This record gives sequence, C-alpha cells and structure tokens, in this order.
Amino acid sequence: MMKVVVLRWGHRLRDERLTSHLLLTARAFGCSGIVVSDVNDWDILETMTKIVRDWGGPLTVEMGISWRKVVTAWKKKGGISVHLTAYGENIQEGNVLKRIIAAKKDILVLVGSQKVPSEFMQSQVSDYNVSIGNQPHSEVAALAVFLDRLYQGRELKKQFYEPKLRILPNPRKKVVIKFGERDTLKS
Ligand SMILES: C[S@@+](CC[C@H](N)C(=O)[O-])C[C@H]1O[C@@H](n2cnc3c(N)ncnc32)[C@H](O)[C@@H]1O
Repeated sequence: MMKVVVLRWGHRLRDERLTSHLLLTARAFGCSGIVVSDVNDWDILETMTKIVRDWGGPLTVEMGISWRKVVTAWKKKGGISVHLTAYGENIQEGNVLKRIIAAKKDILVLVGSQKVPSEFMQSQVSDYNVSIGNQPHSEVAALAVFLDRLYQGRELKKQFYEPKLRILPNPRKKVVIKFGERDTLKS
C-alpha cells in the first residue's frame, strides 16, 4: 500500500486553526505523515500529539524543514509529489488520478495557503498539478476530496493503532468508549 504524506506550505503562526484542520483531515483521511514546512509551531505539534495519543496512530509529524529539502529527499527515495492547485489538471475531467494511482509510488501531497512559489507548478517540484475543480476554494476541502478519490472511500473505515478512545456510531446520541472497555465515558 502506498504511503501518503501531506506537506503544508505557508503556515502562519496567527492562523493556527486552518493548519490544524488540514492536519486533522490528513490523519483522519488516511495519511501516514504530515510536514509543516519552513516554520515550527509547538501548539500544533502538541495538538497533533494529543490527537494521536487519544485517537490512535501511526502518524509522523515533522516541522521546520524547508519545503525544498522535503521534496528533494522524497523524490530521491523514489516517491512522487502531487500539488493541489485550482490551476492544475481537473481530477474529474482527465485521467490524472489514474496516472497517479498507476505510478504505485509513495505520494507527497503539497498544499498551499497564500500564493505558493511559482516553482510549485514546475516538474522539478510537482510531478502532478491536480485541481479539485477549477475554482479557488479551501485547502482542507481540496485535500479531503483528493484523499477520498485516491482511497475510494476506504479511508473512512481505517482502523487506527492503539487508540485510547473510540466512537461507537449511533444514530441518536454521542457514545465514546475507552478502547477495550465497556464503560461509556460520554453519551
Ligand atoms: C485558499 S487557497 C489560496 C490560493 C491562492 N490565493 C492562490 O491564488 O494561489 C489555499 C490552497 O488551497 C488549495 N486549493 C484551493 N482551491 C483548490 C482547488 N480548486 N483545487 C485544488 N487545490 C485547491 C491549494 O493547495 C491552495 O494553495
């Protein structure tokens, strides 16, 4: 099974919530790692560490490394990079997703915030520029749709490793149990 890691470019310390939502989405939708490039944000590291402790892993979390180094190292190891951008090949119209899956390689997904460096569109950085529709919207929405298409929904049944807490789906009430125990913590 291919490994998928998300690289968040352009995180601003004053804009912590959006990056947190992006990273939570990456984890919940099947990624095995996340990188916040070029900047260290210890609050986000703490949030993600708590999430993995309570809701399970595995998930690698890296920060502060330059995006260029991450991309270069990834490609050196034989992985491919996919840049999510409104300007790329529309995932719904062409065969870009088929080509990505057919490559059978680990995938580094590059996601921006403000305007990304123009090099991101170049083949040295991105093997594929993929748009989730050619309208500008949100990095969280773009990542969720991309991962759901890539995994064809299987990620929504993913079992996480060693969680402390687990939600028991219920049509009417909130039920959270301690993993392996019968006691209901919240309902
Ligand atoms: C809120 S957008 C900002 C885009 C920026 N204003 C620009 O013109 O490049 C932030 C990120 O969301 C992602 N994104 C937004 N719309 C997208 C789309 N239609 N398809 C794929 N990714 C998208 C891209 O990764 C983008 O860098």
